[in-house]
Amino acid sequence: MTDVTVIGTGLIGSAIVRACADSGLEVSVWNRTPERPARLAGRDVHLRATAAEAIEASPIVLLCLLDYEITHAVLDEAAADLSGRLVVQSASGVPDDVDPLRKRVEAAGGRYLEAAILNYPDAIGTEDCFTVYGGAAEDFKELAGVTEALSGKQVRLGPDPAYAKAYHVVSSAFYYAFVNGFLECSAIAESMGVPLNDFAESVPLYDPGFQNTIGVGLGLIARRDYTFEQAPLTSHLNVLNNLAVIAERAGIDHSYLGVMRERVLRAMDQGYRREHVAVLTEQFRSRRAVLHNR
Ligand SMILES: NC(=O)c1ccc[n+]([C@@H]2O[C@H](COP(=O)([O-])OP(=O)(O)OC[C@H]3O[C@@H](n4cnc5c(N)ncnc54)[C@H](OP(=O)(O)O)[C@@H]3O)[C@@H](O)[C@H]2O)c1
Repeated sequence: MTDVTVIGTGLIGSAIVRACADSGLEVSVWNRTPERPARLAGRDVHLRATAAEAIEASPIVLLCLLDYEITHAVLDEAAADLSGRLVVQSASGVPDDVDPLRKRVEAAGGRYLEAAILNYPDAIGTEDCFTVYGGAAEDFKELAGVTEALSGKQVRLGPDPAYAKAYHVVSSAFYYAFVNGFLECSAIAESMGVPLNDFAESVPLYDPGFQNTIGVGLGLIARRDYTFEQAPLTSHLNVLNNLAVIAERAGIDHSYLGVMRERVLRAMDQGYRREHVAVLTEQFRSRRAVLHNR
């Protein structure tokens, strides 16, 4: 027997295998393309010829495949005995994906934990690793050898596995807002002749700004009172008017800057002026109410 099995040694799976082996765990691995795990083989990493063999080699099985559909297909083919095993799923997905997989693992005698990895693979095993989990407290405790190996922040959010995936969806939405902002501002920088390296130097200024916006914004959204003395909607409109035109000239289709400006204008039509930009969330609340009442 080994301590832990990793099914799927893509970028995430390989990083997990390395972190586990580095912290002294014996690891069994299986991957569809055998050349990939071959690079990981070593004293504490054992390559298995089939997924079934790998699953049966350890009491803890980490599923690190691309998505839920592939995970079901691999488990179908393996038809492995999961009795008593703790199965941890980390592929990205949506909360609705979780229950069918949990039920199938439990029907095969296993216990189920959902994991959502919030960082790039190279952070695994370092203090920058951040993973959230959903499932039973005793199962999370049993995973301690692995969570210690992954390092950083390893947080169980509660007993509901699907909640971990919902958390990941929210976190990803924020991440892509940032990526989109980066892509659009790179286009704007190019179109205005600002070297990207020069722009990168201003980025650290915004780190505390993001934290402040989120900290203040969360409080205002919870209270539904958007009174705010520092950056009123009217000053955002001024900036967004300029930026929307510049984005258009930079060749950006459907810029979020134009979309933001439309939302600010709509809020001003509704009578808002001096409020915090978080007041725009009210537009989504109203739209949700209409959609749910249909
Ligand atoms: N990379 C990141 O930054 C990151 C961060 C957080 C979460 N995630 C999530 O982690 C999961 C894995 O991502 P990754 O970056 O490790 O992707 P990846 O490098 O593309 O690895 C995908 C894994 O799925 C396997 N796979 C794909 N299609 C398959 C099939 N039809 N049958 C059997 N195995 C198949 C691949 O096997 P082969 O080697 O044979 O192709 C490989 O093991 C994804 O859900 C991703 O969203 C990724």
